Amino acid sequence: MADSESGLLEKKSFVVVTGASRGLGKSIASKLVAALPRSSFFLFLSRNNAAQEIIAAELMKSFPGVQIGCRKYDQGLLEQMVFDRLFVDVLNDYALKVSDFEQSIVVHNCATVGDVSKCAWEMTDVKSLQKFFDINVTGMILLNSAFFETFRETKSRLIVNITSDNSKVPYPTMSTYCASKAARDMFFRVLVSEDPSVRVLSYSPGPCDTDMLANVRDKSSNHELAGDLKNFYNEGKVLSCDTSAEKLVAFLKKNTFKNAEYVEYDDPL
Ligand SMILES: NC(=O)c1ccc[n+]([C@@H]2O[C@H](COP(=O)([O-])OP(=O)(O)OC[C@H]3O[C@@H](n4cnc5c(N)ncnc54)[C@H](OP(=O)(O)O)[C@@H]3O)[C@@H](O)[C@H]2O)c1
Repeated sequence: MADSESGLLEKKSFVVVTGASRGLGKSIASKLVAALPRSSFFLFLSRNNAAQEIIAAELMKSFPGVQIGCRKYDQGLLEQMVFDRLFVDVLNDYALKVSDFEQSIVVHNCATVGDVSKCAWEMTDVKSLQKFFDINVTGMILLNSAFFETFRETKSRLIVNITSDNSKVPYPTMSTYCASKAARDMFFRVLVSEDPSVRVLSYSPGPCDTDMLANVRDKSSNHELAGDLKNFYNEGKVLSCDTSAEKLVAFLKKNTFKNAEYVEYDDPL
């Protein structure tokens, strides 16, 4: 359903991007800064704050007027206070009000792929399994709720859920990753069934040249999967993060995607 008043990329927005420090998140953050009005505010969240501060400084130089704040954030550290205070504190720090913005946007990009040396039977360690789902699922849900609790008054609300074909296809040695991506996709399908006024793009970026993909290629104990990925790299089938991020922005610009339904890089606009 297209927005009748103005497009998703035309509104002054408060935008949160998780995992903006590298990989796909860095590219998505950069493309959104370029695409949205300069009066928008961006908040970059990841554990490597130094890296995202450098990215933010470069973007503010290239796009004068845009404001970017960065906060060190570990989505696997589930402290109630962090979620209760994060957005309120950032608004205060920058002397901003929710009513300054026409739209609130969160890009749930950050994730971990987990230990791809292990098969499903070998998932025996309580702490590492809990931490994994805290980062990929529970922390994401808590951040999402905290953000829209703070920004509940914004008329236009947009969620970008970075998903993967792993949410649909069972890849060996990626049991927890596949399960976490499927869980996120369904979480947002339920969310829009409860509140269809929120737009959700569940975007699967395709195979992108990042630390995460290289880790699966180099560390998966499934030789077929590791071999397939090596071939992907050798045959030049791995996408640059910028290429995939541009397609994501094109889907948002067109704004005809089905709410919270799976959309892939390869899909026609
Ligand atoms: N690459 C692909 O081929 C591919 C394919 C399909 C889907 N995806 C999805 O695309 C998204 C980005 O993946 P990527 O390939 O760019 O991965 P990546 O290179 O490993 O980057 C992951 C990003 O997430 C952040 N992150 C990781 N753990 C975090 C934590 N505990 N708290 C906060 N931030 C954390 C990292 O920042 P810090 O380390 O600084 O915290 C980094 O910015 C993920 O959701 C992934 O599942 C990727």
